[in-house]
Amino acid sequence: MNSIDASQVCQSDIIGCVRRCVEQAHQENGRRQRPFVTVTYAQSLDGSIAHAEGETLKLSNDLSLRLTHQVRALHDGILVGINTVVRDNPQLNVRLVEGENPQPIIVDGSLRFPIDARLLKDPCVRPIICTSHDACTRKEQQLLNAGANIVRVTQTNAGLLDLHQVFAHLKQQGLRTIMVEGGATIITSLLTQGLADQYLVTISPRLVGGLRSIHPQVGGQQERLAHLHNLQYQWLGTDLILRGDVLPRVHKQSSEQSGVTANAEVASESATSATVARQNGSLQR
Ligand SMILES: NC(=O)c1ccc[n+]([C@@H]2O[C@H](COP(=O)([O-])OP(=O)(O)OC[C@H]3O[C@@H](n4cnc5c(N)ncnc54)[C@H](OP(=O)(O)O)[C@@H]3O)[C@@H](O)[C@H]2O)c1
Repeated sequence: MNSIDASQVCQSDIIGCVRRCVEQAHQENGRRQRPFVTVTYAQSLDGSIAHAEGETLKLSNDLSLRLTHQVRALHDGILVGINTVVRDNPQLNVRLVEGENPQPIIVDGSLRFPIDARLLKDPCVRPIICTSHDACTRKEQQLLNAGANIVRVTQTNAGLLDLHQVFAHLKQQGLRTIMVEGGATIITSLLTQGLADQYLVTISPRLVGGLRSIHPQVGGQQERLAHLHNLQYQWLGTDLILRGDVLPRVHKQSSEQSGVTANAEVASESATSATVARQNGSLQR
């Protein structure tokens, strides 16, 4: 059992802490193998992020939702799993505060991405959909026509996409910081592979008994998933916000850039122009 020294936990201006972390990550970008990853989501007191059947659950209050939009505006990219797109049909943009929209990225091994998703409604938004080499080429063409960029990466033995390759590609495209907004399968994958750097959770005072934020681990790995340090908290109304740095773990580096193929010209153009426009402060999505 790990004990937490109470003097290391402090009430803070969370958005200021997140901003400093992200700015530091931008400065260190050249030395990083992959983008800096912030994992963030809202959960009930019992750790649920959705209803048990996966139905969307509104957990954040107005203040914590505003914080989420502030955090989105700080990151270059925002990544979710395909089930989140199918279930919630999110826009993943910045609406509640002033700021630039992050580049949407979806991890979708079989191209289940709905062609009528809200992420494809804005002609200025070109979501990057990461998929497997086996995914249907006809669906790929439909999604390309609808404005998406498709990136193919290899799958792991578990049948999931190799996130090391996904992040290597995103880094190549100039995306230095990625906010991961769920769902549970993506969060679990990131933690088990040691790919999270910062953790930011909104805790809503409700008991739901639904889908938990992290899948149960077998073989007594629970203690090893991640440890947080530099913990900070802030109350936003009745929601408790908790932020921490994920302690780096020694983990096996995967094949990084090998095996990544992309709809290169379009993806590269889109992400590079996103980066340049961000630098110029002029991107409108
Ligand atoms: N409360 C919150 O803040 C919050 C935030 C986001 C989502 N949610 C909820 O979370 C639920 C969805 O979570 P979920 O766990 O079902 O799905 P998810 O994490 O959104 O998506 C998981 C899917 O992504 C694909 N995938 C491909 N490579 C992967 C990899 N390396 N790691 C993980 N996934 C990979 C897999 O589908 P394929 O096999 O088809 O490739 C996998 O089943 C929804 O009900 C949503 O409402 C809540």
